Amino acid sequence: MKTALVTGGAHRIGAQICHTLHKNNYHVIIHYRNSSQAAQNLANKLNNIRQNSASTLQAELSNSQEVSKLCDTIKSLNILVNNASVFYPTPISQLNQHDYKSIMNINVMAPLFLSSTLSKKLSQNQGCIVNIVDIHSERPLKNHAIYNISKAAIAMTTKTLAKELAPNVRVCGVSPGSILWPEQTVELDQAQKDNMLKKIALKKQGNAQDIADTVLFLANSIYITGQIINVDGGRTLNQ
Ligand SMILES: NC(=O)c1ccc[n+]([C@@H]2O[C@H](COP(=O)([O-])OP(=O)(O)OC[C@H]3O[C@@H](n4cnc5c(N)ncnc54)[C@H](OP(=O)(O)O)[C@@H]3O)[C@@H](O)[C@H]2O)c1
Repeated sequence: MKTALVTGGAHRIGAQICHTLHKNNYHVIIHYRNSSQAAQNLANKLNNIRQNSASTLQAELSNSQEVSKLCDTIKSLNILVNNASVFYPTPISQLNQHDYKSIMNINVMAPLFLSSTLSKKLSQNQGCIVNIVDIHSERPLKNHAIYNISKAAIAMTTKTLAKELAPNVRVCGVSPGSILWPEQTVELDQAQKDNMLKKIALKKQGNAQDIADTVLFLANSIYITGQIINVDGGRTLNQ
């Protein structure tokens, strides 16, 4: 059985990626930070479908020792999905180093070090890495300077690692447009949501399954590396 590690896999897009890879016969390792109950519930659900097919691993990804420990725990790996992320506004007038580190550590540093540390295990299986990027890696979202910069950096990380880790590990990315409204830190009012939907050529949000399907497509596409696919309903046509 092939093994997949999905960071931030307990909820939302990460959980859908876990469901989809599991449905396609992967053993899924669900990484979480705080969401232990949700991760365990998801693992139980998947294990009820197929015995010993899902497990959970906890790690704070800004802590390099926890990242190393997580990598040591993994015996064999076919696909690493760098999905965990931090998203909140950082207006230029209020920039500070704390926000810079907190966003860059999770959105860039953790995927880079997870990828490099796990690359040997991935290469033994001719495996792949899929980074979840964002269409704002190319066209900035107002008031989100550090997030935009972090996603531009993970896009370049994708291409750099594709070159560095070839021919034994493929590295690709998926750039979502508007898929799920942000929770907690960023509440959008209805007018803001309507305004965003107007800009999408297909006139609706995507859903987590659209992202998971593209991750699976890339996992199966053994002659694709270094590519990042926008899954955005044509939003970039109107940006
Ligand atoms: N939602 C969208 O419409 C959208 C649009 C464009 C791009 N994206 C990208 O798609 C991916 C998934 O999006 P999402 O909205 O589903 O993500 P999310 O809910 O904002 O975050 C996913 C998970 O990241 C984990 N995480 C955050 N900080 C962490 C840390 N310090 N250490 C370890 N884990 C940490 C959290 O795990 P715990 O809950 O366990 O703490 C969280 O559940 C992200 O890369 C995001 O940038 C999403």
